[in-house]
Amino acid sequence: MGRKPLVGISLKIYQNKIAEAVNYAQSISQLTNGETDLELFILPSMGVIYPVAQALHNRENVIGLGAQNIAPLANGALTGEFSIESLVDLQGHYVEIGHYERRTYFHEDDELINQKIQLTLKNQLVPLLCIGEAQQTTGAELKTVFKKILAADLANISPAQLATLIIAYEPYWAIGKAAAAKASYVAVAHTMIREALAELIGPTADNVRIIYGGSVSKDTAGSLVNNPNVDGVFVGRFGHDPQNFAEIVQIVKQVKLQAN
Ligand code: PGA
Repeated sequence: MGRKPLVGISLKIYQNKIAEAVNYAQSISQLTNGETDLELFILPSMGVIYPVAQALHNRENVIGLGAQNIAPLANGALTGEFSIESLVDLQGHYVEIGHYERRTYFHEDDELINQKIQLTLKNQLVPLLCIGEAQQTTGAELKTVFKKILAADLANISPAQLATLIIAYEPYWAIGKAAAAKASYVAVAHTMIREALAELIGPTADNVRIIYGGSVSKDTAGSLVNNPNVDGVFVGRFGHDPQNFAEIVQIVKQVKLQAN
């Protein structure tokens, strides 16, 4: 089953000014110019999503655009929210849903996350669903945790609709830290996620790309993706330097292409 490897970055609310965000997007676009073996994406800080979209369109680049969050409704009385209609208009492609910070600081529950996934699919965009466990957990128990989250987040969605789904495995305890989770732990977790997913949605689980996020750096990216169930990485702080992001892309490419 050929799942295209992915490397993406969320800028959270870093690089919030137009010039710095546009510079960053242009730099990574230049440094990864012409990349076709991997799928690349950027989720800019929401306030600068429009200029970043423009900058990316102008360069005929290969980096896809996405949003870090959307409202659960396409339009209406939801003060302060960001509508998927805007993202569609900007030719965005990815919607990050259920990040640890959204679940924790903004109290997003599985029902809300499920609504956002359904809305994303209805608009033919790609949901990037983040899941993770609060504390390091061993094999079988991990699978139970993932199955519970996935069953709730993907409720009432047919397997056929989920072929484009991307899951970002982001253990809560590895986000914002000095180093990523150990590659051996991540390999087990990704295998558990794919097994749990197969039990819920059947063979479509083979199409779903599962990427790792949480303190990924150029030092750890290679070992993290060195497993068939790890389809790429979701980068944060350690990709803020465009050179580092581009290096991570190269490292992932080497490991994944070698494996095929
Ligand atoms: P981090 O962010 O790499 O800065 O930990 C990753 C994430 O939260 O997606």
